[in-house]
Parts: sequence; structure tokens; C-alpha cells
Amino acid sequence: MRVTIADIRKKKAKGERFAAITAYDVVTGRLVDEAGIPFLLVGDSLGMVALGYDGTIPVTLDDMIHHARAVVRGNKTSLIVIDLPFMTYHKSPEQALESAGRCLQEAGAQAVKLEGGRVIAPTVARLTQAGIPVVGHLGLTPQSIHQLGGFKAQGKDVSRAAELLEDALTLQEAGAFAIVLECVPVELSALITKRLAIPTIGIGSGPHCDAEIQVIADTLGWFSDFVPKHAKQFAKLADAAADALKRYVEEVNAGTFPTERESVSVSEDVIRAVETRLPEGAGG
Ligand code: KIV
Repeated sequence: MRVTIADIRKKKAKGERFAAITAYDVVTGRLVDEAGIPFLLVGDSLGMVALGYDGTIPVTLDDMIHHARAVVRGNKTSLIVIDLPFMTYHKSPEQALESAGRCLQEAGAQAVKLEGGRVIAPTVARLTQAGIPVVGHLGLTPQSIHQLGGFKAQGKDVSRAAELLEDALTLQEAGAFAIVLECVPVELSALITKRLAIPTIGIGSGPHCDAEIQVIADTLGWFSDFVPKHAKQFAKLADAAADALKRYVEEVNAGTFPTERESVSVSEDVIRAVETRLPEGAGG
């Protein structure tokens, strides 16, 4: 059975913390399923993790849908949320409705996530009224990186902190069923969490949110050259993969792989019969 938004809301009511994580393809979708993680985000971090961009702005709705379809094929139990990418919901609530509709119809997701505060509340209301569950995203919102002036913590002064609290309450009022808080100071995310009836899902926002979300590449250590401050590598898969590829190359070069164990064979009779069919003078 797939997790529903009602299950996610109940977790907040019961004070039950939960883990959330991103996935981008059938393999990661399946791993998240097998780990029993209730909330899966097909994040537009896809741009950095899988497509080689240095931010989320170049990611398109078609990119998101293409990857999300693979995730859905690999995952039968998590609630699957898709990030609406840059400029696919900013123009109007109707544009958002069209984009979010594609995520549910073409990719098979159950919800969408949108970045932004009060200014997108009418869009959140339009989507939820149309039956499309919405997750909000406040704090460091990577689609606004040029406006924010870099990947920095948000809400450090009184006016910005008060704005974030008001944004969170407004998104809840508009119908969001959860809100991601990215790089929000610990004390402020604790306050927002206390004031909301819906779950907060933190990333770089301390231990007092109702849930935690991480980018799977950071959690599994796919990259050895960069570990964000908010991440912890629970595995070092990049190192393990580099070591495995080095040994593969060594064995191929040395002729120790493949062996007969990794091959199929036929009887000598077949080979002899094939040899007798060779035209006169062909072969050795
Ligand atoms: O795109 C993403 O991976 C995200 C998470 C950082 C929450 O939005």
C-alpha cells in the first residue's frame, strides 16, 4: 500500500518523526521503497545530481516527468512528490495547474512541491482545490538563487525570520500538507514547527522539524569531492565504485576476467561441425 497525505498528516498529529529522501531513477526509487521511507521527492536537484548542471534552473518539466516515471516504476509504497521546476508555475495558477496535472497524469506522482511563500499562496490554493496535494518549500529556495545571492542560510534577522513564519502559516492556510524548510536556523525551524499543524520537513534546519529530507547522492556518498554542511554520508559509494572499476580494469587487462564461470559454452561437437562447414581454404 502506498503512503498517502493523510498518513503524513497523522504522523504530525501523533508526534511521529519520519525520513524523506530524493530519488531520480528506477534504482533509487526501488532502494527508497525497500528502505520503507514514506516520503520520496523527485527533486529538481536532479539537475545537479544526474544531469550535470550547476543548479536547478535549467531543469525542465519534461526532465522531471521522464525521471519521475522511472522512479514510480521502481517504487510501490512511498508517497511520491515531484518538484515543479523553474518557470513552470510562476506565471499563473493556471500554468501551475497544467504542470502539476502532467506530474500526476504522466508520471504517476501523488503530489507536487513548489518553492516560495505568500506570493504563491493563490497557486497552492488553486492546486489543492483541484485535488492536487502540495508541499511548500521555504528558506533557501534554489530556484531563486540569483535573488538570494547564493546558497546561504535564510531567516537570520528578525524581519526575514518573521516573514518565513508568516509564509509558512499562509501556505498551510492555502492548503499545503507539508512544508520543506531548507537552511533555516534551528531555533526558527523549531518555532515554525511548533506553530504549524502540518509537518515541517527540514534540510539543514536542525533536529526540531517533524521530518528530515536529504538528497540521496549526499546520503549515500556518490560524490567524494563535495559534502554539503547539512549532509552526512551514511555510505561512501563513490569510493566503493572507484575501487570496483579499478579492479575491473586490472582484471580485464590481466586476462583474469571474464573466466569460463562468467561465460556460456557449447559442446566440442558443435564447434567441430561448424569447422567442417567452413568453405575450402577459409579459417586456420
Ligand atoms: O530538489 C531537491 O532535492 C529539494 C530538496 C533539497 C528538498 O528540493
